[in-house]
Amino acid sequence: MTRPPGLSAHTHGSVSGSLLRRVAGHYPTGVVLVTGPAEAPGQPPPAMVVGTFTSVSLDPVLVGFLPARSSTTWPRLRAAGRFCVNVLGADQGPVCRSFAGGDPGRWEVPYRTTATGSPVLLDALAWFDCEVAGETEAGDHWFVTGAVRDLGVIREGSPLVFLRGDYGHWAGGGGSGRAGRRSAVCPV
Ligand SMILES: Cc1cc2nc3c(=O)[nH]c(=O)nc-3n(C[C@H](O)[C@H](O)[C@H](O)COP(=O)(O)O)c2cc1C
Repeated sequence: MTRPPGLSAHTHGSVSGSLLRRVAGHYPTGVVLVTGPAEAPGQPPPAMVVGTFTSVSLDPVLVGFLPARSSTTWPRLRAAGRFCVNVLGADQGPVCRSFAGGDPGRWEVPYRTTATGSPVLLDALAWFDCEVAGETEAGDHWFVTGAVRDLGVIREGSPLVFLRGDYGHWAGGGGSGRAGRRSAVCPV
């Protein structure tokens, strides 16, 4: 079998963070906005764009994500003891960029707050409102789990996908999937 150029299997046991980032970039992730309650009226609520969101456990019902230890948003969510995961749609690239870039106008998007005070973007695809259930050290990140207290689907739509440093969208089911359609991740 021939190896694609540029992908070395000979690391001699020493794998750098930049190599991990480059190779892991071939694995697609979804993109979510993790939000929390505003600390004071009129203050922008904490929010961070996250690609490491995952469903963790069905019994108990847990989800998780990995905030960097350098994140200034995670300590605010930790202090609140709760967070809400907003699953972004492919048409929310500008919203994602605005939050990732710390745009002062980022909260000029339609949203409501959950019963526990975290923002749910009205144009998100789905949301999970959580209580912080656990936090484990994981190198330069934390692995955070949340017990899901409420959740919902807002609309059907193609999710925003992040792959090889770029955004795209999911454009169909796999040939071997239940839907029996062809699969593709396409740029947006
Ligand atoms: C597509 C995408 C995925 C990201 N995923 C994560 C992630 O899983 N964990 C994380 O800590 N930061 C992630 N970031 C970076 C954060 O959005 C943010 O820039 C970082 O947490 C520092 O911001 P803060 O200090 O305001 O928290 C991601 C950014 C982008 C654009």
